[in-house]
Formats: sequence, structure tokens, C-alpha cells
Amino acid sequence: MTNTITKEIRALLSERNAILLAHNYQPAEIQDVADLAGDSLELSILAGKTEADVIVFCGVLFMAETAAIVSPDKTVLMPRMDTGCPMADMITTEALEARLARLGEIPVVTYVNSPASVKAHSTICCTSANAVAVVNSLPEHELLMTPDRNLSQYAASKTSKKVNYWDGYCPIHDRLSAREVMIAKAAHPEALFMAHPECRPEVLALADAVLSTSGMLNFAKGSENQSFIVGTEEGLIYPLQKANPHKLFYKVSDNMVCEDMKRTALSDVLRALRTMTYEVKVPETVRKRAFRAVKRMQEITGR
Ligand code: 13P
Ligand code: SF4
Repeated sequence: MTNTITKEIRALLSERNAILLAHNYQPAEIQDVADLAGDSLELSILAGKTEADVIVFCGVLFMAETAAIVSPDKTVLMPRMDTGCPMADMITTEALEARLARLGEIPVVTYVNSPASVKAHSTICCTSANAVAVVNSLPEHELLMTPDRNLSQYAASKTSKKVNYWDGYCPIHDRLSAREVMIAKAAHPEALFMAHPECRPEVLALADAVLSTSGMLNFAKGSENQSFIVGTEEGLIYPLQKANPHKLFYKVSDNMVCEDMKRTALSDVLRALRTMTYEVKVPETVRKRAFRAVKRMQEITGR
């Protein structure tokens, strides 16, 4: 059954000159049928470069919106529209404007896990792969970073800048406790602990490496170590294990599942391609300003 749907999806992708992009947390069968599975940065870069007419995005809304921001001439489709990111919903332009009115005119660094309208109000965007480089690229000493308080505090710890931060967080990464990490480390003392910067500061303090999802894939591949504790959403275990069949990967807890990332099924992708729905559109005035912030990030990090 899966095989038949997969074949139909691949046939429709080629018929429609479409590309299928999937985030590293997507279900295994979606990653397997995709043209590229990657982190937010890689997916945004490919979305801007592709010559396909249609981008089918399997991830969450802010990722598909970013594709629409960098590729206005393409049709961007999401197989389901009920796949949001709770962290992105923790900020609005109105609240940002109110905060800036208190802080004064300082640059705003916005994590891509945010609404397009907030990107449009920002100086520059960042992802988990480049947040420190983006903060360091700004000539100003003081800045506001949104919406992830954990990523912001992590970036602040790596620079001498004054980083004001927003009080948003990822419910999945923020719930991981230092105690759970210590239990996992005690169970697997030989394993290296890789953590995503959306985790709390006390969790990151226990990490051997703090990395984006694709950063973890590269780290595990390049490491001489044979085992790893994975401090991020559990979907990443699939590509880690696939790329490193002889290495061992342990979940840091059983609690790290992003329901939004798990909602998309192969049948949704097939329906999306058959019916060319649901199209993700960003109003042109918002898109143009958001594009500036995304482009500036891509220029600074050389990609
Ligand atoms: P990455 O960009 O590291 O893949 O992270 C995206 C995300 O949503 C993490 O929760
Ligand atoms: Fe958003 Fe967290 Fe899910 Fe990533 S894991 S998409 S930050 S809710």
C-alpha cells in the first residue's frame, strides 16, 4: 500500500514539475519519499534555489511560509493546514511593536519559527544553525531576539552583546529537564549528548554539542564515537540511524514528540498533489519585507 502511494506521489511530482521538501522530524515514510529532508536553513535555501514550479512542503506552517517568502513565483503547497508551531504562535507584530516602544530602536533578530508578519518587522532572521553568527554579524551592541527565550539565551552566552529576549519557547524542547538528561547519561555513559538550542540553559550545560537537527546528523556522522543521546524531537532518530546503521542512538526521554510534525501522512501528500491544495500565500507587502530579513540571514551565513 505504502509502496503504491509512494509511486503515485513520485509520478505526480514529476508530472507537475514539483519538489517535495520534508523537515527532519517528519514521519519516516515522508522523509523517504521526499527530494530533500533537512533542517530549517537547508530547506529555506533549497526552496529559494529550486527550478520546480511547485514546492510541496511537509513540515509546519512557518517553514512553508518561508518557502513562499523566498520563492514568490512558485506554488507552495502544504498537505495539511493544521500543522502549526506553538512557539511561532507566541508572538504577534502588535506585541513586538509594544516591546520595541519600551526598548527603543534596536535591531530585532527573529528565529524562523515565527509568523511571516513578525519576520517582516525584523532586522534579520536566524535559524538554530546560525543564530550565534547572525547575532555577531550585527554592528549594534544591544538587540532583541524573538521568539525563543532558550535559543536567545544560548546565543547570548556565546557573544558579548546585550541580548534582550522574548518569552516564547518550544513546548517539546522546553519540557526536557536536566534530571532526565542525567538519567539518560547514567544509562549510557559512553554516549555523547547532542542537544538542540531550543532546550533550556541547564540542559544545554550538560551537552557535548549544541546543534540544529542537520548539525546533529553531520556531527554523528563525523564523530568517532559510536553512541549518542539525542536531545531533540524523536523523529530525528530515523535519519540518524539510517545514515549510521552501526551506531547507536538513544532518545533522551519519551516525551519529545511534536504532534504537529507527525500529522502529515502519505495520503495527505497524494491528495495535495492531486488537488493542488492547500496553497500557502504570504501577502506581497509582508513578503517583501520578510524576504529582506531572510535574505540578510542567508547572505551573512554565506548560504
Ligand atoms: P532545525 O532548524 O534545527 O531543524 O529546527 C527546527 C525546529 O522546529 C526545531 O524544533
Ligand atoms: Fe515548533 Fe517545537 Fe514542533 Fe519545532 S518541535 S516545530 S519548535 S513545536
